[in-house]
Amino acid sequence: MSTLITNIAELMTQDAEHRVLRDAAVVIEGERISWLGPAADAPAADERVDAGGRALLPGWVDSHTHLIFAGDRTAEFEARMAGESYSAGGIAVTTGATRSTSDFDLTRLAMGRVAEAVSQGTTYLETKTGYGLDLENEARSARIASTVADEVTYLGAHLVPAGMDAEEYTELVCGPMLTAVRPYVRWADVFCEQGAFNEDQSRRVLLACKAAGLGLRVHGNQLGEGPGVRLAVEVGAASVDHVNYLSASDVDALAGSWSGWDAAGGSGTSGSGQRGTVATCLPACDLSTRQPLAPGRELLDAGVQLALASNCNPGTSYTSSMAFCVTTAVLQMRLSVHEAVRAATYGGALALGRESGNDVDGERAVGSIAVGHRADLHLLNAPSATHLAYRPGIPLTHAVWRAGVAQPVR
Ligand code: NIG
Repeated sequence: MSTLITNIAELMTQDAEHRVLRDAAVVIEGERISWLGPAADAPAADERVDAGGRALLPGWVDSHTHLIFAGDRTAEFEARMAGESYSAGGIAVTTGATRSTSDFDLTRLAMGRVAEAVSQGTTYLETKTGYGLDLENEARSARIASTVADEVTYLGAHLVPAGMDAEEYTELVCGPMLTAVRPYVRWADVFCEQGAFNEDQSRRVLLACKAAGLGLRVHGNQLGEGPGVRLAVEVGAASVDHVNYLSASDVDALAGSWSGWDAAGGSGTSGSGQRGTVATCLPACDLSTRQPLAPGRELLDAGVQLALASNCNPGTSYTSSMAFCVTTAVLQMRLSVHEAVRAATYGGALALGRESGNDVDGERAVGSIAVGHRADLHLLNAPSATHLAYRPGIPLTHAVWRAGVAQPVR
């Protein structure tokens, strides 16, 4: 089955050449993109969709969410808006609610959140454990996450649970808990911050998880300067997320991690060479916690690869809207629209190691529009992506295809 989407006013590919095509068309065949180019040259297909002069982007790649939870933290949010500051301790409230919720309800809640994200243009999504914080509940969270998300991250090292010693808990995270979650996860993460895990504990968790074959990510430099970014680069993490408080040497370390990377790549559709550590900015979280926005402009200018993600979670960022993150990145972080869309699509894919693929064995690239890539597409109800920032707060998702399948849009 093939579908021709034609009459696209602006096709923002986010490919290696950063091409933006006008009066364009795309053909989907099964789950892959099989053709793109000028609408006048488009081949015939089984089905034809008239985009009506709208803009087409890659679907959002949301590389940082925490969707496996129950309960509500409205009271904490209200207190914060009244002047209290965010602290890691709030995680315990969600852990209590999550532990006392059935598998069925946790799955239903997570599926609802994924559906909400997809209906707003997200087509590839990571989620984490981290609200179980004991062996049984972390394993259960990982298992449920693996049924609802494209990528799953083990975040047993989110908070030391009440009643446990930090060292004893770190051993559990590095040992039996890691063994229990291992079948369900591809990534591991640690909240390296005051009130969560210190540098030594974080390093132990990351190295144990690396030895178990997991890719790494770090929650770092969210609430103050600290060792998170440095540690992420040291262990070769795929991303360090939050990055609000950075020293000059943190920025240098991140930029240096990309020195062996050729962003244009050899094949013309993705980068090549030694990949570094993506800096993932979470602007909705920054606003909701009243932290200074991460210095996205400075990171890009320094040569760091950037991702934008929603950080959807009940404590610091209860939104799945990637469009909101893009709007904020343009209006407040001084990214161009093209840069912000790139960070929310290709950048997220890079943070998840999914920016390139193999058209032969079907391990398809996501986050950009090119032949052979997964047909993850987001049609805006606007003639250009600029409207994402020009019309802040207006829901602009008109249609979404995920792996070639049209999705319900609310
Ligand atoms: O990414 N910072 C750590 N983890 C989450 C917040 C978790 C919570 O407060 O529930 C975050 O912001």
